[in-house]
Order: sequence, then C-alpha cells, then structure tokens
Amino acid sequence: MISSPLMTVMVDAVRKAARGLKRDYGEIENLQVSRKGPGNFVSAADRKAEEVLRDALMKARPGYGLVLEESGIVEGADKSHTWHVDPLDGTTNFLHGIPHFAISVGLEREGQIVAGVVYDPAKDELFVAERGKGAYLNNRRLRVSGRTDMADALIAYGSPYLGRGDHPKLLREVAAVMAVSGGARRFGSAALDLAYVACGRSDLYWERDLQTWDIAAGIILVREAGGFVTSADGGAEPLAARSVACGNEILHSELVKILRRANA
Ligand code: IPD
Ligand code: CA
Ligand code: CA
Repeated sequence: MISSPLMTVMVDAVRKAARGLKRDYGEIENLQVSRKGPGNFVSAADRKAEEVLRDALMKARPGYGLVLEESGIVEGADKSHTWHVDPLDGTTNFLHGIPHFAISVGLEREGQIVAGVVYDPAKDELFVAERGKGAYLNNRRLRVSGRTDMADALIAYGSPYLGRGDHPKLLREVAAVMAVSGGARRFGSAALDLAYVACGRSDLYWERDLQTWDIAAGIILVREAGGFVTSADGGAEPLAARSVACGNEILHSELVKILRRANA
C-alpha cells in the first residue's frame, strides 16, 4: 500500500463517497434518474457521490481545481493542481443492477497525472497509484500481464453513447482485434478497464471519445504497474486526446498497429 498524506486524502474521500453509492445500489428502483442523452443517464447516486468527493477534496486541498463530471469545472487558486473526478463510472451497469462500476479520482500536476484511485465498491477492490511509488490493488503490488502472444490476449474495449463518437469506426477496430486475439470484452467502466490492465486481468484495453475524469486515475495505475498508455492513435498524451490504448510494451505496440490498419 502507499502511505502518503495525498493518498490518505484521496482514499478517505473515495471510501466516504462509496458508502453512499453502496446504499443507493441496494435500492436502485427508488433512485431519481434523468437522461443526459440517448442511453446516457445520471442518477441521484452520481450526484450525491460527487458532492461528497467535491467537499472532501476541497476541504483537504482548498486551492486545487476540480473537473467534475456532473457539476463541471471548479477553478482553484492553485493553477498547477487539478482533480479529475468521476463519482460513478459505469452508471449504465449500476442502474441495471450489474455490480461493475467504480469511483475514479485522479490528480494532475502541471499537465502530468501524479496520483490515482479507482474503487470498485461492489467487490471492495481499491486500486491506487502514486507517481514513482507503484500501483496496488488493496495491499498487493501490481504488474501488467507478461503475455506477448496476441492470439492469447484478452482485450477490453469501450463504446461511446448513442449519438456520440464513430460507431462504424469502432466496429472496424473490434473486427480487426477479434480476428487476431484471444477475445474481446466490453465491461462498461473505463476506470476499471484501465485498472484491470494494471493488475493483469486484461492484457490490453482501448477506447476513444472519453473524458478526463474517465481515465486520469487509470492512466497512472497502468503506468505505475509497468504498462504503456498512449492515445488510441498511439499519441503520447492520452489525457489531452481523451482516448487510450494500453497494455505491456509489446502487445501495446501491436494493438496500435492493428487499430491503424483497421482505419487505413
Ligand atoms: C462511461 C463508462 C463506459 C465508457 C463510456 C463512459 P459513465 O462512463 O466508463 O465504460 O465506455 O465512454 O462515458 O457515463 O458511466 O461515467
Ligand atoms: Ca465515466
Ligand atoms: Ca460517471
């Protein structure tokens, strides 16, 4: 585990928000739900969890800025630090009673992600990473998978909500990946997709049309677990590109080539 004042702040905030999410998950049929777009819902659980996270993070680090999925940007006096907060990543799973969703909090300092926490309340799995200090799942140090044969690789991907992103392009990419890999999965939480690469459950993951709160924490988890993360096009700035491709060095570079060929 990582013991630092910063990690304590992040883990405490996330665990506090998770208590509310767990309660709400137990009674999803009574939750107030509204629609942000086709198939894209936001519930009282998302909003309450975000409020808890915002209050806790602002109290602990008053000057830092915040990028919050549901309530937007809060400017801070300290322009060099920004939190990227997704209070409930995997809302579709949550509202359908599928126990695969997470809270994701990443901290950016001068353009670099320096710490991340992804917590899966349903499985009580806490993924943490801090720059230079490694990545952990509960108390276990993480390492990306060592698999190098694409034919054996398990590859996770994500798809954008209806009306957003380029679905035909994604289908070309999925077809290309399925033709050469051990299997493709769509789990439904970008933060956990990254965390699963960090801990070696998935060998690879890619997705486009994301937001910084989906990926900030997960990017540092994968990097601190020894993995490679770029944009889905192979660019060096996944956070700015809002897309990711990640895995170990060898498979990552093969995946980027496969995606490029699929779009050529
Ligand atoms: C979504 C999930 C999903 C991904 C979408 C995200 P939300 O986040 O991470 O896996 O495919 O692009 O928007 O809306 O559940 O917070
Ligand atoms: Ca999300
Ligand atoms: Ca969300």
